Amino acid sequence: MPKKNNPLKFETRALKSTQNIKSEVHAVSQPIYLSSTFERNKEGQYREGYKYSRNDNPNRRALEKSITSLENGTAGFAFGSGMAAISAVFQSLKMGDHVILPDDIYFNINLLMKEVFSRWGLYYSFVDMSDIEAVSHALIQNTRLIWVESPSNPLLKITDIQSLSKLAHAHQILIAVDNTWPTPVLQNPFDLGADIVVHSTTKYLGGHSDVLGGCIILKESGALAHRIQSIQVQMGAIPSPFDCWLISRGIQTLHLRVTKQTENAQKLADWLVEHPKIQRVLYPGLKNHPNHEIAVQQMKGGFGGMLSLLINGDEVQTLSIANRLKLFTQATSLGGVESLVEHRKSVEGVKSQTPENLLRLSLGIEHIDDLINDWKQALI
Ligand SMILES: Cc1ncc(COP(=O)(O)O)c(C=O)c1O
Repeated sequence: MPKKNNPLKFETRALKSTQNIKSEVHAVSQPIYLSSTFERNKEGQYREGYKYSRNDNPNRRALEKSITSLENGTAGFAFGSGMAAISAVFQSLKMGDHVILPDDIYFNINLLMKEVFSRWGLYYSFVDMSDIEAVSHALIQNTRLIWVESPSNPLLKITDIQSLSKLAHAHQILIAVDNTWPTPVLQNPFDLGADIVVHSTTKYLGGHSDVLGGCIILKESGALAHRIQSIQVQMGAIPSPFDCWLISRGIQTLHLRVTKQTENAQKLADWLVEHPKIQRVLYPGLKNHPNHEIAVQQMKGGFGGMLSLLINGDEVQTLSIANRLKLFTQATSLGGVESLVEHRKSVEGVKSQTPENLLRLSLGIEHIDDLINDWKQALI
């Protein structure tokens, strides 16, 4: 496992941790091991510790070590998608356990609880996580886990992770943070008291909208790590070696991309907030955000590449603005090098609680002048 308090800086670790695979020909770039199985010697040993690729694979191990190091964790487990990783956290609980989730949680997790885990005997409540008192009131005897998204998807609410961790730990409850949006470049939940970090590596870690993946990182190894590993290996929702390789390659440029995307998001938010056609810009980097001060304390170097807007108008007017944008591609997902715009309500479907006039933006690495000009022409 990677050492905690690694003396190397983030950018160096991101590069070195993804190159650390042994190569017989001394390759500089990570070789891809597609083999599903590994040779056992006459003494019955697996010389490098690899037996079968569902259990472990050199590319998966390199990816897990890298993300664990960047999150200052102790153990990491890669999965075939963010939802597979998130499901594994819930699968590690037992029947009758209760989970508290953010009221504006990523829509598919809401469906996952309602359509899958409720039938498996998990109980859950949705609460406004930016209100610690509301969370405290939602605790019951069987509460085992509090789930956090900060900034949240799609309302960009900020949760005070440190205060929530104190509350949770006073009741022997675990805190899991979905750190997909801020990435470890901008936020390290373990340093704020969290126990579990989850990523959809499909987003910023992969960074190029060409691979799906997920990861769970734990602050401590121990019984929970064993349960998660068992779910990963026995249930087998693992990423392929090539997918692990793509995500590792993405990690090598993560810091550069997130820094630029964050800068673009802040500049666009500052511009949009003054525009008469915009009712509200939801971005924690704006001073008028209700939890701006908490975001300043718990995030480092900026507030991320995601923002949402409320248009002055109805659904039809909102969609027509999205249709007029030329540089922002209308597509779901986020965190890639290209800018995307999404009308969340129509993507989420009839059960969506998202306002009809909300557009969610994922900022890419294009020049900010071009992005602002695109909004100028779309908001005519
Ligand atoms: C915050 C967050 N968590 C998890 C997921 C799910 O990840 P995946 O699509 O890789 O399963 C998403 C997807 O958009 C997300 O935005």
